Amino acid sequence: MIGTLHIKWFEETDSTNTQLQNDRHNLENLAVYAAYFQTAGRGQRGNRWESKRGENLTFSILFKPGNIAAQDQFVISKAVALGIVDYLAQRGVECRIKWPNDIYYNDLKICGILIENGISCDKLAYSIAGIGININQEKFDSNAPNPTSLKLITGKEYDIQQELPDIVCLIAGRYNQAITGKTNELEKDYLELLYRKGEYRNYIDCTTGDSFEARITGLDDQARLKVETRDGEIKVYAFKEIGYVI
Ligand code: BTN
Repeated sequence: MIGTLHIKWFEETDSTNTQLQNDRHNLENLAVYAAYFQTAGRGQRGNRWESKRGENLTFSILFKPGNIAAQDQFVISKAVALGIVDYLAQRGVECRIKWPNDIYYNDLKICGILIENGISCDKLAYSIAGIGININQEKFDSNAPNPTSLKLITGKEYDIQQELPDIVCLIAGRYNQAITGKTNELEKDYLELLYRKGEYRNYIDCTTGDSFEARITGLDDQARLKVETRDGEIKVYAFKEIGYVI
């Protein structure tokens, strides 16, 4: 399904996303940049991504899908998140996807994903998925909320260089579903694995600052989160408009 993997390891770099962004014209679909240490790892919402040198996986994958409409770009997020959940399940750890694309083990974050898309003529020209999976790190001293790692969960130590090809293959498998019209399967699996789906929990409306209780019912056709309050009101939120109270 995929040919030879092209994984380039950096002893140290600013950010694998930035490097892949710079080099993307000369690279093929599914090229991977990975780093033992990032000096300027980037997270969502302009945050930094902290990761101890050599302990975790910090890498980025380039996708050049060709035929995905700009409005369907979230399918890449789904494919990446599901590939990572597939990998963690293979290691015996059942995780959930916290919309839009954090990976959670119970209420703890094990992986963050930063997707950067390039749009041209209403098509997704390229997508760079930056992925930080906490593998062996046991102590987290940054202000990252509720982190965990594979080692903290399983008690085992992993060779990060050996783990990466397995993860990339599983992500590539899910990406294949995305580009071969199997988006229904992706959608179904994504919804099945959605963190807190159907449970009444507390959220914050970031536009008003109000907190409210609701249950997640799914996504709308723009990949916004749909929730239903106890009195049956349906609300729809775009990224950054809703906060989870954890
Ligand atoms: C998040 O805030 O949850 C997203 C974190 C994404 C971190 C990864 S690590 C590899 C890649 N390079 C970066 O600079 N960021 C992403």
